[in-house]
Amino acid sequence: MTSVLFDLPTYLRTTGERVDAALESGLSTLGSTPERLREAMAYAVMGGGKRVRPILTIAAYEAVGGADDAILPVACALELIHTYSLVHDDLPAMDDDDLRRGRATCHKAYDEATAVLVGDGLQALAFSWIAGADFSAEIRVRLMEQLASGAGPWGMVGGQMADMEAESGPRDLDHLRFIHAHKTGALLTSSVRMGALAAGATDAQLAALTAYGEQVGLAFQVADDILDVTADSATLGKTAGKDLAQNKLTYPSLMGLDEAKSFATTLEQEAISQLEPFAERAAPLRALATYIVERSR
Ligand code: IPE
Ligand code: IPE
Ligand code: MG
Ligand code: MG
Ligand code: MG
Repeated sequence: MTSVLFDLPTYLRTTGERVDAALESGLSTLGSTPERLREAMAYAVMGGGKRVRPILTIAAYEAVGGADDAILPVACALELIHTYSLVHDDLPAMDDDDLRRGRATCHKAYDEATAVLVGDGLQALAFSWIAGADFSAEIRVRLMEQLASGAGPWGMVGGQMADMEAESGPRDLDHLRFIHAHKTGALLTSSVRMGALAAGATDAQLAALTAYGEQVGLAFQVADDILDVTADSATLGKTAGKDLAQNKLTYPSLMGLDEAKSFATTLEQEAISQLEPFAERAAPLRALATYIVERSR
C-alpha cells in the first residue's frame, strides 16, 4: 500500500477549511471576553498555520472509521493549544521572535502582557471545547486527559523547559531526542491518539497509532530544525537561522544536515509501517507522514 494515488493537496485544503471554519465560528462567540483579548486570540489562531495537528486528529479518526463532524471541536482544541505554544515560544523571555505565520508575532502586534493572556486563554478554551464535544462523558474525559498529557509539564511544556536549558547545557543525542519528543512530539502524538480515542479505537489500533504519532512527532521537529537552516524567512513565515543564533540544540547542529535528513526519512518509513492494519483508511495518515518530512515550510 502506498500513498502515490492519494491526493494529499486536496485533502489538506478541504480538511484545513473545515478546521478553519470551526475555529472561526468558535472564536467569534466568547461571551464576556474583553474585545482586545478576543481579537488578539483570533489574530494568533487565524493567521495562516498549516493545521497539521487538527488534520492528523481527523485523519486518525477516519483511520479508525470515524466520519462525522463531531471530531471538529476536538481537532480544533489541538490547534488552540499549539497556537498558544507558539505565542509563548515567540515571547522575548523565550525565543524572542518578531515574525510568525508571515506576520508580526502576537506580542509585537499587541503587547507582551496580552500575548501571555492569549496563551492562557487559548489553553482553557481548548479544554472547554472538548468538554462540550458530542462524545460520551467517558470519551471526553479520556480526550482531556490525553490533551493534558501532551500539552503539560510531562509533554510540550516540559520539552520547552528542556529546550531553553539546553542553550547552555550538555549536547548529546539522547538529550536532544528528549527535548524534541517532548516540546513537539508529545502534542503531535496526542493529536493522533485523540482522533483514535474519539473513534473508539481498540487497544491494538491505539498502540499502532501511538507509535505512528511518536515517529511523525519527532520527525516533525527534525524537519523544523532542517528548515531553520535551509529555508528563508519569507517561505517559512518565521525567522530562519534562529537556532544557530540562539545556540539551540538541534539535529543539524549535532549530526549535520545530511544525517538529519536521513534520520527524518527513517522515522517517516517507521511511521508508515505502523499503518498496515488500517489498509486504505490510513491513506491520509500515510501521505501526511511523507508531507511532514518533505514539506517546504
Ligand atoms: C511550528 O509548528 C513549531 C513547531 C512545533 C515545530 P508548525 O510548523 O506546525 O507551525 P504552523 O502552525 O504551521 O504555523
Ligand atoms: C517550537 O520549537 C516548539 C513549540 C512551540 C512547542 P521552535 O522554537 O523550534 O519552533 P519555531 O521554529 O519557533 O516555530
Ligand atoms: Mg522554541
Ligand atoms: Mg521558536
Ligand atoms: Mg524551529
